[in-house]
Amino acid sequence: MQPPLLSVAGMSKHFGGVAAVRDISFNVQAGEVLGLMGPNGAGKSTLLNLISGEHKPDSGTVNLKGHGIIGLSTHRICHLGIARTYQIPQPFVNLTALQNIVVAAEYGRGLGKDAAESEALQLLDMVDLSEQKDVLARDLAAITLKRLELARALATSPTLLLLDEVAAGLTEEEIPRVLEILQRVREMGIAYILVEHVMRVMTKAVDRIIVMDKGAKIAEGSPSEVMENRKVIEAYLGKST
Ligand SMILES: Nc1ncnc2c1ncn2[C@@H]1O[C@H](COP(=O)(O)OP(=O)(O)O)[C@@H](O)[C@H]1O
Ligand SMILES: [Mg+2]
Repeated sequence: MQPPLLSVAGMSKHFGGVAAVRDISFNVQAGEVLGLMGPNGAGKSTLLNLISGEHKPDSGTVNLKGHGIIGLSTHRICHLGIARTYQIPQPFVNLTALQNIVVAAEYGRGLGKDAAESEALQLLDMVDLSEQKDVLARDLAAITLKRLELARALATSPTLLLLDEVAAGLTEEEIPRVLEILQRVREMGIAYILVEHVMRVMTKAVDRIIVMDKGAKIAEGSPSEVMENRKVIEAYLGKST
């Protein structure tokens, strides 16, 4: 049997006295879309950081197609096919939108300049940013930067994308556009883990949801199963037990 695309087992991470991630295990299959929910401080971004190699776990394993990736550099993990976006976008502010994606295609995929540029132009189109291609990243609106981040991540040719709050701060009119872009990513056969608070995005864009609270996994299932789960409702209403 084929190993899952991603397999996380027994993962824990403390920061001082704070248990940010507690004994988390789950799999992601090739092409699958997994939603990751939880109140602020639940440990969602930390979990993504552990998968992308920014943090080292205290314990646990992460396997990509059956191969352990804990301890590898973020650079190496990116080359193996995991790309991510940040909750707070981190573009090269003095480069244009196009140049930002070209750099990602060169770095992440080792493409030459011309190939990287033609790839970047296609990705700009895919995230509806063609008109802003020559605008410096520092002059782009915060919400536009979210789409640039997504294009930069895609430029590295990932098999798994880690998306941290791509729809946060968007207006009602902008949400359908992001859903459409996420649908295009799914159609490309790229698996992704989507951290999202905007419920409409979550329920429309994912196959399965994991809910975290205080570092631990409290529920896992289809969007409708998870929404009806008592523990999930309590975590969101802030009821103490
Ligand atoms: N680099 C860090 N250093 C210290 N504490 C951190 C760090 N990153 C996250 N934390 C703490 O870990 C917990 C989980 O944070 P985070 O993963 O950002 O949650 P979420 O993304 O679900 O809002 C929080 O208590 C946060 O303060
Ligand atoms: Mg976060």
